[in-house]
Amino acid sequence: MPKHILVAVAWPYANGPRHIGHVAGFGVPADIFARYHRLKGNHVLMVSGTDEHGTPITIVADKEGLTPRQVADRYNTIIANDLYNLGLSYDLFTRTTTLNHYRVTQDIFKTLFDKGYILRQETLGAFSATTGRTLPDRYIEGTCPICGYSEARGDQCDNCGNQLDPVDLINPRSKIDGSPPVFKQTEHFFLNLPEFGERLREWIEQQDHWRPNVRSFSLNFIKNLKPRPITRDLDWGVPIPLPEYEGRDDKRIYVWFDAVIGYLSASIEWAHNQGTPDAWRDWWQNRFARHYYFMGKDNIVFHTVIWPAQLMGVFSDGHYAGSAVGAFAEVPLQLPYNVVSSEFLTMEGKKFSSSRGIVIYVKDFLSRYDPDPLRYFLTIAGPENQDTDFTWAEFVRRNNDELVATWGNLVHRTLTNVHRNFGVVPRPGPLHAGDQALLSEVEGGFDSIGALLEAARFKAALSEVMRLAALVNSYLSEQEPWKVIKTDRERATTIWYVALRCVDSLKLLFTPFLPFSSQRLHSYLGYDGYIAGPLQFREYTEEDGHSHRVLTGDYASWIGRWEAPHLPIGQALREPEPLFKKLDEKIVDEELARMGAAAH
Ligand code: MF3
Ligand code: ZN
Repeated sequence: MPKHILVAVAWPYANGPRHIGHVAGFGVPADIFARYHRLKGNHVLMVSGTDEHGTPITIVADKEGLTPRQVADRYNTIIANDLYNLGLSYDLFTRTTTLNHYRVTQDIFKTLFDKGYILRQETLGAFSATTGRTLPDRYIEGTCPICGYSEARGDQCDNCGNQLDPVDLINPRSKIDGSPPVFKQTEHFFLNLPEFGERLREWIEQQDHWRPNVRSFSLNFIKNLKPRPITRDLDWGVPIPLPEYEGRDDKRIYVWFDAVIGYLSASIEWAHNQGTPDAWRDWWQNRFARHYYFMGKDNIVFHTVIWPAQLMGVFSDGHYAGSAVGAFAEVPLQLPYNVVSSEFLTMEGKKFSSSRGIVIYVKDFLSRYDPDPLRYFLTIAGPENQDTDFTWAEFVRRNNDELVATWGNLVHRTLTNVHRNFGVVPRPGPLHAGDQALLSEVEGGFDSIGALLEAARFKAALSEVMRLAALVNSYLSEQEPWKVIKTDRERATTIWYVALRCVDSLKLLFTPFLPFSSQRLHSYLGYDGYIAGPLQFREYTEEDGHSHRVLTGDYASWIGRWEAPHLPIGQALREPEPLFKKLDEKIVDEELARMGAAAH
């Protein structure tokens, strides 16, 4: 039975272009997972969008002399283009500034408020003395009251690790202009997390299949739950849906509260865009559906604690305050099944830093190199389980010695020989035991690699596909069909046929990881149609007259299946070209120089 799988991908802030560390954390792993499940015949819904509210946006707007909306528009376009060019196959990549998202967010806020899960409290807020605007906690710096560290942040001290409140800091100052913040009494709304502590603990304890760091971090976090502020003194965000806040622009819903709701609102938008407005329920109100969330490790708590608490609270007793998107009925919404978080990628031994030029943006990368080698590197050498380093030297080495030398070479020598000698998939003679053994080992990959992918072990899965490709190379080197053909044409034909069958299976096994080159190979093998593609942009206009562009695709039309394909004998091959390019060693110095120049 096909399963319903929600692939929920972290929403990148629309406050700048994305660098390769970002897409290593959320984008590439999520796409591999979604592509695998679609090939497997499951019903996949992969949703996300740009995260466009809050201080991450307003700070850039101030710096660039733009309105927050202009900043969001600019970077939504750039980010969506990058994701498209990397082949990230979202069913919907939308934005948090849609009318639909505002409605769903306000409905959820209102529901939680009506049920008493949201508390009002007067608190001391920090404001910039120069602009009068709110100063987010992490933009306040001062001396830690616990350990005396002089560069503690308003939210936490990086020296002793304690959580702080900006009012606790000694000699607080704004990181933006150094001025001391002004503290004022102001009303805020808090999500009453302690109410959910027990249910969260029970639920998290059952999640044995989570990565150990995610589970232990979350269990630790819920030991000490406090009500968590979910509004901010800001004029950019989703308005608070209470009569006394109507028309006011001094307070908004906190960006993290609305962003996680995006997973649900985007599913609702997708269903609406499809013309099947209730279709989102097949994922959200189906207790057999499984929800997988993908993100960098700094996002864990929002996905394992806060968003689940929001979901638990909304549906705790069947009452739902919203009407705008239709009643949710009395069926609870699904909680995350797995929260797949990555560690961090560093760049040439240093933390990514746009301001110091230690960065490589996706757009710049893809202007000089193809997407598949980047996807390959980020999967095989990326931060799946530990922080890892991107170096240009290692990128060139992995590309040349692995991708080109193993997979590229196998495809190239097989296709050029068969195309030149036969022009079509040749009819083999009797298969030897060794031929059969190779075919079954490669075809066994559909099960073994499938199992690794289902467990979100992407690095191990890709290593296994590469091992199988290397095995076929060894087979060819041993069998030497290019020599055999001079004396025994039938045997040589059989060897090439076996290699071709293996290449056809490997093409599918590589598809989730390397969709662009697999598609080209598909066509060289003489097939038509898309094994897994293409992506497209569409424009939608909402009732308020605003339109927005989304990234989507008609993935139901994929003809690829996660099983050994039946390569038809006699199928005419197309003229092959190399799948990958060997990179010149000198690009290492060029790229390092480029980075050095940006740093000065
Ligand atoms: N915008 C956040 C970041 O870039 C991620 C938001 S993920 C979501 O770190 F859960 F809020 F959607
Ligand atoms: Zn400290």
